[in-house]
Amino acid sequence: MPAIDVHDLTKSFDGFVAVDGISFTIESGEIFGLLGPNGAGKTTTIAMLATMQRPTSGAATVNGHDIVTDEDGVRRSIGIVFQDQSLDEELTAYENMDFHGRLYRIGGEVRRQRIGELLALVRLEDRKDDLVKTYSGGMRRRLEIARGLLHEPTVLFLDEPTLGLDPQTRNHLWEYIERLNAEKGITIILTTHYMEEADRLCDRVAIIDRGSIVAEGTPAGLKASIGGDVITIASPDPDAVAGLLTAPWVSGVERRDGQVTIRLENAEEHVPGIVTAIHQRSIGITSLAVRKPTLEDVFLHYTGRTIREEEASGREAMRMFHRAGRR
Ligand SMILES: Nc1ncnc2c1ncn2[C@@H]1O[C@H](COP(=O)(O)OP(=O)(O)OP(=O)(O)O)[C@@H](O)[C@H]1O
Ligand SMILES: [Mg+2]
Repeated sequence: MPAIDVHDLTKSFDGFVAVDGISFTIESGEIFGLLGPNGAGKTTTIAMLATMQRPTSGAATVNGHDIVTDEDGVRRSIGIVFQDQSLDEELTAYENMDFHGRLYRIGGEVRRQRIGELLALVRLEDRKDDLVKTYSGGMRRRLEIARGLLHEPTVLFLDEPTLGLDPQTRNHLWEYIERLNAEKGITIILTTHYMEEADRLCDRVAIIDRGSIVAEGTPAGLKASIGGDVITIASPDPDAVAGLLTAPWVSGVERRDGQVTIRLENAEEHVPGIVTAIHQRSIGITSLAVRKPTLEDVFLHYTGRTIREEEASGREAMRMFHRAGRR
């Protein structure tokens, strides 16, 4: 039985189709990523799977429970960490956990024991009696993840788990998420608009754009699907370099800013020949780099657009601003 099975799931808001007939399957124990830009439909998808919003049409099961006819079954088996934080700032980490445990009717001794274990897992045991308002953004996220695990769900939903965090904190969180998955075998479905996050963390990724899944696979498979490698050569005479690269195995040559960029299959095999040919004609090379396509190249390939990081960071700033204002 797959952990999550989604068929033609659709959500409309007053005629606007936010999620447009998506289908995918997540196997137990996977880390699965929904990658897409702002407004793609990531949160709406997760909200339907977590039974917080009703689908307009289509069907899905989570741990075998139907998301429409068995909401309680779904809710008991999942943990959720949503995009906007929901901790009580005026309580300590322990108190936040304890409150959540009581909501789920987890009995006294078991509750105390699990809270201790989970706070240790996310390395917050030393700070458990400090008020959450004294916590950094990364500590809050870790606490939210620990809280989401208190009732021992087998599937954990993480909506933009590292949004607005600095690169170092983001790296640490990735390690916690990987540990959770490896040590506890928890299936994780996360949303993100960070290419790097999807690439580093996810076993499989679905790229979602304007409510539809445009590509799905392992990060490596997705990158391989657009074909070939990239070689970038910097030279004082890029025109001469470009003029040499006429072999049939070169599928594309582009010149920009004193650099020549070549697309080809099996780049490593061709590097020695390229370098020899350039030297034979006494053309200089300043640098040569072989690069694999990134998920950014994949997104561009399937949508014709780049994920607008600028817009994303602008929205992040707004969110942080609103969040700060709520305190
Ligand atoms: N309650 C709602 N009423 C009307 N429109 C909505 C509602 N919720 C979401 N939408 C719209 O549906 C689309 C998808 O929104 P959603 O929040 O799922 O995107 P997202 O991929 O999570 O984006 P982000 O990266 O900004 O979090 C957006 O155009 C959004 O404006
Ligand atoms: Mg969202």
